Order: sequence, then structure tokens, then C-alpha cells
Amino acid sequence: MSSTPTQTATSSAICVENLSHQYPAPKRSRRGNSQPAPRVLALDGVSFEVNMGEVFGILGPNGGGKSTLFRILSTMLRPSVGEGRSAGSANVMGYDAVAEPGLVRRQLGVVFQSPSLDGKLTAVENLRHQGRLYGLGGFELSKRIDHWLEYFGLSDRQDEFVERFSGGMRRRLEVAKALLHEPTLLLMDEPATGLDPAARRDLWQKLFELRDQKGMTIALTTHLMDEADRCDRLAIICEGKLVAVDTPGNLKARIGGDVVTVEPEVAENGSGAERLASEITEKFGPWDEGASPAVVDGRVRFEKADGARVVAEVAAAYPGKIRSLTVGRPTIEDVFLRLTGAALGESNA
Ligand SMILES: Nc1ncnc2c1ncn2[C@@H]1O[C@H](COP(=O)(O)OP(=O)(O)O)[C@@H](O)[C@H]1O
Ligand SMILES: [Mg+2]
Repeated sequence: MSSTPTQTATSSAICVENLSHQYPAPKRSRRGNSQPAPRVLALDGVSFEVNMGEVFGILGPNGGGKSTLFRILSTMLRPSVGEGRSAGSANVMGYDAVAEPGLVRRQLGVVFQSPSLDGKLTAVENLRHQGRLYGLGGFELSKRIDHWLEYFGLSDRQDEFVERFSGGMRRRLEVAKALLHEPTLLLMDEPATGLDPAARRDLWQKLFELRDQKGMTIALTTHLMDEADRCDRLAIICEGKLVAVDTPGNLKARIGGDVVTVEPEVAENGSGAERLASEITEKFGPWDEGASPAVVDGRVRFEKADGARVVAEVAAAYPGKIRSLTVGRPTIEDVFLRLTGAALGESNA
């Protein structure tokens, strides 16, 4: 493989090695508070690779470190863990995100979590403005704008003010804007958050098209299960640490059995779920490691190889005391719970 003097010959689109970051301590807000706030590692020794041409998801709860990782990869943040300590490295399309930010940026289309469109401009004007930032102009720019508006189904609304667009249309225009300079890698921070299911489906259809028809590599962060499930591969991060990287299918296969949830009728003192969990633990053991009953969001949740049979037995054992019972194959949420001991949903304020 040929390589320029700076670009490392690489088959991975992103290569992150032992990456850590600690934000500076916040200024104390209250007088008399002598305890300095503890400084947490927003990223703590994270390593993974993203292959060319895949849709790679970074899944984690709020505060998990996703945006910090996104900021480092998009060269907006220089990883740092204090004087004299290595913060690791982040390599994007063969360029170092810290040493060669300009070269990285040329390879990258970036969609931020917070909207970056100007509502008082039309779709075309937003794109033209972006194109000029990348030194594009004239016929070439007009041609690209037409292409991407058409691609994202926005041509017939191209001269309308963006403030009149739906959430889904805005997000598609954001992606068009990120692709105008023809990057090879698209990086998105929580692209589908706030979109309704139909708009989310439309967006994902376009992402798959970009991968399949244009060979684009796509890396995105998400805290949503349905999005995580659609990725070719998934990195799960929690409290700044990477806890797993694999295909969604392989991750789910790590949980051997079925997942059962039992929702008790509300007890007078509100302790129904805890009591039920300990009774089920007693009666239906033995339990595989990590599979025994736990209370999650007011429901008792456990894993058993023969879920359907156990559900029937639980139903028979607690007549009138159970509001609902479910049994199913493990989801990404179950994988997350198993790996981190926390529910993704709980942390999503
Ligand atoms: N600008 C900042 N200054 C200080 N702490 C921050 C800043 N941004 C994020 N953090 C902290 O870093 C951790 C990771 O945050 P973030 O990367 O935004 O997570 P996510 O995107 O997964 O929600 C959290 O504890 C958060 O409070
Ligand atoms: Mg974030």
C-alpha cells in the first residue's frame, strides 16, 4: 500500500489506542465549598478500530463519554490527562487527530448533536455557505448542492427557509452539508435523537445507501437501542470505559438464555418488586452468573435458558400479584445491562 510522508498506511478508517481525556476541573460555584469537585476521566483508556465501509456505532448512556470521543475524532478537542501522562492516540483515515488536524478534517464529514443550520437561510443557501468554507464555488459547488439535495429528497423544498423544515428534513440537510466536500468518513453525534420513528427510518435508509453505493464509512454515537441494533459493529462505552466491541448479533449471543421480566401489581408500601425478586431468586434457582433476578425500572428481570416454561411457573406461583410478564430473546439493552449493571434508559434524563 502506498503512503504519503504523513499518512500511515492503514486499512482501518479510525484507530483509537488507549485514548483518555480529563476535562479541567470546573470552577467552584458556591463559596464555602472547600472540597474541589472530583475530576473524572471522561474517557479512560479506550481502544478500538473502525473498518473501512462499515457503519460503526458507539453506544452509551448520557455522560458515558460519547461526545468527548466524537470531539477528539473530529479534531475539536485535544485529548489530555494532565502533564507528563500519555492521553493515547486517535488516528483518522491514516492521519493523527492531534498532529494533523487539517488533514483529518479534509477526510471527515461531521454532523454535530446540536443543530448547525441557519433557519433564516434556505436549504440551498445553507449548503452554499458551507461549500464556500471548504473553498468550493461556481458550477462545481452548484452541481454538488443539486446532487445532495436530490439525494436526500429535499430538491422541491430547496428555496424554503430551513426554519420551516421538519426535524427529519433538517437532519437530512445536516448530513448533506457534511458531505458537500466529499469526505470518505462520516462522523455523527447522536444523529437520530429527537427524530420520530419514521424520520429515523428515512435517515437510516440513507446511511445504508451511503455505505452500500458510495462506500462511505460511517461512525456514529447513540444511546438508542434500535439505532445500535442497525450498526454493522458496535462499541459499548460506559463511564468513559469501553466495555465491548462486536456485531450486535454476537453481543446478543453472549447472553445464553431468554430474558424474562415480571411487573408486579403495585404493593402498598411500594416494595413489591424487591420482594418478588428475592422470592423468585429462592424458588427458581440455580442461576447462571449475571442471570439472577434484579429490579430494573420497577420490574424483576432475569435470564433463563427455558424462559417460556419459567414464565408459566411464575404466573402460576403468583396469582393476582403480577401485572405483566414478558419473555424474549436478549436485546442490546440486555447486553448493556449485563456488561455494566445499569439500565441505559435510567441514565437518559
Ligand atoms: N466541557 C466539559 N467540561 C467538563 N466536563 C465535561 C465537559 N463535557 C463533558 N464533560 C463530562 O465528561 C463526561 C462525558 O461526557 P460526554 O462525553 O458529553 O458524554 P455523552 O456524550 O456520552 O453524554 C461526563 O461526566 C460529562 O459531565
Ligand atoms: Mg453526547
